[in-house]
Parts: sequence; C-alpha cells; structure tokens
Amino acid sequence: MIDAATLERTGAALAARSGVSAIWDLRVDGAGDADPAADRHVRHQTLMRAYQARYMLLPDAAPGGSIIEHLNRHYDPEAMAGLEGLRRGLEAELITPALAPARAAVPDQAFDAWADDLVRDLRAAAETPLTAWLADHPAREAHYRNFLLQSSADLLAEASASALGVIGEFGAPQSALFRILIDEFGYGAHAKKHSVLYRAVMRDFGLPEEYNAGWPLFDTAALELHNAIHFLFQNPRNFFLQIGFLLFAETAYQRSTRDHFRYLSRHHPQADARYFGEHAHIDLHHTRMVIDEVARPLVDQYGDEAGREIMAGAAFTRQAFDRAGEAMLAVGHAFDAAAARGQAVYAPPVFDGFGPGVSPRGAARLAASAGPIQVGGIGYVTDPAAFAAFPAGAWGRLTAGRA
Ligand SMILES: [Fe+2]
Ligand SMILES: [Fe+2]
Repeated sequence: MIDAATLERTGAALAARSGVSAIWDLRVDGAGDADPAADRHVRHQTLMRAYQARYMLLPDAAPGGSIIEHLNRHYDPEAMAGLEGLRRGLEAELITPALAPARAAVPDQAFDAWADDLVRDLRAAAETPLTAWLADHPAREAHYRNFLLQSSADLLAEASASALGVIGEFGAPQSALFRILIDEFGYGAHAKKHSVLYRAVMRDFGLPEEYNAGWPLFDTAALELHNAIHFLFQNPRNFFLQIGFLLFAETAYQRSTRDHFRYLSRHHPQADARYFGEHAHIDLHHTRMVIDEVARPLVDQYGDEAGREIMAGAAFTRQAFDRAGEAMLAVGHAFDAAAARGQAVYAPPVFDGFGPGVSPRGAARLAASAGPIQVGGIGYVTDPAAFAAFPAGAWGRLTAGRA
C-alpha cells in the first residue's frame, strides 16, 4: 500500500505544477488524517490525475504567457513519470479487487446466448432509477444537475478513454471499433462530437462545461467509475475486458439515454437534450457493431477463454455503474433529509471560493463556524454537523464565501 507520506508529497507536487487554467488543474485534496473514506477519496483523485496525463488538453481561451511553456510544465516528463510510478500501486489497491467479483458473476453460458440475453434484459429493464425517482421530485433540477456533474468526469471527454484501446494492430475488429470511435467524435463534425453535445446540457443546467472544471465536487463513486474505465483502457492486457465494457456500456446506454431524453423533454424542456437523443438512436447500432463485428469474431478466433473475459468485462462494468448510481442516489436522499430538517439549501455550485474537501467523518470534527459545505451539484448543507450524517463515500467542499 502506498504510504500516506508519499501520497502527501505527490499532492504537493501536483499542486505546484497546477496550471493557470481549470483544464490544467492537477490538484488533489490533502490526505485526510485517520479517516479511511477521505484517504480512499484522495487516492482515487491521484489515480485520476495519473490517467488524465494521457490526454491532450488545451483551454478554451488562450491563457496568456507562452503556450509552449504551459505545455512543457503540464506535461513535464519527470513529474509525469513520478505519478505514473504510483499508478500500478493505486490500481492494485483501488481497482483490481473488483475483478474477482466480476469474474464470479459471469454465468456458465456460451458467448452468443449470453449476449442475446444481455441485450434482451437491458432493453426490457425498468426505467432508470434516477429519472424514475425525479419524475415527482420537487427538487429534481438540483439532483439532475448533480447527475450531470458527477457524470462529467468521463463524458466531457467522451470516448477518449476507449480511444486508447483502438490504437495498434489487431485485425478486422479494430476497424469496427474505429468506426464506433469516429461516431463518438461526431464523424469529424465538431458540433456533433458527443463531448460537445454534453457541454450543451451542462451549460443549460448552469454548470461549467470545460473538461476537469468539476473535479472539486466529484464524489468517491464518480472517481471510482472514472478510474475503473481508465484502468481497463490504459492497460492493453485488459483488451478482452475492454470489449466487455463497450458491449455492456453501449447496450445499457441505448436504454438509459432514452429515459433521460424523455425525462428532459418532459421536465426540463428548455435544456439541450441532443446528447441523450443522439445516443438513444446511435447506440442501437453500436451495440450490434460491438457484438457482431468485434466480440463474436474475437470469440470465434480465440475461443471460449476470450468470450469469458469479455463477459467478465461486462460484469465489471455493470457493477461499477451500479455502485456509482446507488451512491449518487444515497447522497441525494441524505441531502433531501438534511433539507427537510432545514439544514440544507438546493443551489447551483459557485466554483470560485472553494475551500478544502471534506468527508462526512471529517465534517463531524469541524466547528459550526467552518461554514457551509457544497455537496456535488445539489446544493450546500448549512453546517458541518449536517454533513456528518451523509454516507461515507459522499464528498463535500467548504465554501467559506457562501452565506
Ligand atoms: Fe457517445
Ligand atoms: Fe456509442
């Protein structure tokens, strides 16, 4: 296990290298004394920074100063090597323990029958829990804003993680994956790129749309999901697990995005819902492409062992999505309970003036005068004692400036 002093030193080095734009913000929170939940959160933040190092990132507006110097600083090879050196250890602590339960969840079925069942079951599934919950919820805008914010860890750079699994040389399935990838990138039409469509709905809910701007409010489950996806795609040994991820994600997405599209059309008709409408349509095709042009040919060529690994990747993905979704609902319920007691206010986050991040257990040790704590995109609790009752994976941020 990576010791706390190494983590603390890494955090200080990242803060020192943090750039002038939100997109180059490399900070993580300080390791939280003896609180295991805060410690786990900071480890996930650090692993996220290691994965983000693979991304080409430029700010929307020129930041002033020499652009070359900014890049030399952000992508400094010595500093990146140090972070990369921690990656394997963090993955071993945080992500690989989820592989055994995923493999254990794989049914004793041939690949074709399993894929048919998966597609049928996901299509027939009940409405997405979040949209079903919010349909009659008086504070639905605040909770939906939080959903958008937590999901933005991946979706504001949608398909960049999986793009890392497309490079190389591996036969006809590679070209099918590439065709899916270019759809994700709007077939080269920038306005249709999926991350650009996601920006539009973020904007309509009053959220910052630049990649990485929302990180201070990501809860542990959102970071875990982000890191689970990147663990798959930044390790080529996970190739068949990656295919399982794509198969599950494309299939689940055709259903959930239809629910989100309907939900937005009905309850937030002013919001740009193209991101969801586009996926409800195109992921029908992507599901078929992953199954017929990627997974099945790979199983035919490399045998049942490959098929079982693809199924394990799908189970790993399903479990990671389920954990993130359940954690978000649990935080939402805790916030509603605090609001009902008069201890929380639904409000969009104000991104300048954030203080340190805090876990519920950390909040229990703060004085009331420490001030309000912003909880994701939902709103703020008026006093730290109210945040102490939240689930362990919740993450808040002190907002001294907020009355
Ligand atoms: Fe997409
Ligand atoms: Fe897709």
